[in-house]
Amino acid sequence: MKPQDILAAKSSSSSLWIFGYGSLVWRPDFKYKQSKVGYIRGYKRRFWHGDNFHRGNDEFPGRVVTLIPEDDASTWGVAFEVCGAQVKEALEYLNVREAVRGGYVTEVVAFHPDEGGPSVPALLYIATADNPLYLGPAAPEEIGARIAVCEGRTGHNLEYLLRLAAFMRTSCPHVHDQHLFAVEAAALTTVSYLLEAQ
Ligand code: SIN
Repeated sequence: MKPQDILAAKSSSSSLWIFGYGSLVWRPDFKYKQSKVGYIRGYKRRFWHGDNFHRGNDEFPGRVVTLIPEDDASTWGVAFEVCGAQVKEALEYLNVREAVRGGYVTEVVAFHPDEGGPSVPALLYIATADNPLYLGPAAPEEIGARIAVCEGRTGHNLEYLLRLAAFMRTSCPHVHDQHLFAVEAAALTTVSYLLEAQ
């Protein structure tokens, strides 16, 4: 479902949940009514998408997260509820940030709040393997080494990784995101080699 279709289906009084699992968890940058930590089912988070705008460039694309379908997996993040005029504002902003600059497309999934209660449908941004920026799987060492040296117009790729790992430790301490923490350890190892070599 495209953001404009979602927008067309919404009345000005209705609300929309938007699920973030990457940089949105620490920097949504749009107005919202409330946010909840929680998870979606059926996807794993992987640093398999390339980024030539926010966290890299054409010569050295950064590595950022996308979601890979996997039946038994779940991915933790934050869902933001936007209401009324905030819906249009948020979707227009995210269309540029995620779709135009990042190559992500939208999907709607069930979001499960950590606090319990019913799940809600939530919009998310996902990059698929047919995207020209898609990089695909690699060993954590390779991904971490790339992240340690890439920088884009929004900031360093390492900042993106460390902030996401910090979010998981702080807000989801009961969840061990093995891929994320392995990439973080590899990136920090690369950084210490680079510092020692100076
Ligand atoms: C994004 O939201 O996917 C990119 C923004 C960032 O890297 O901070």
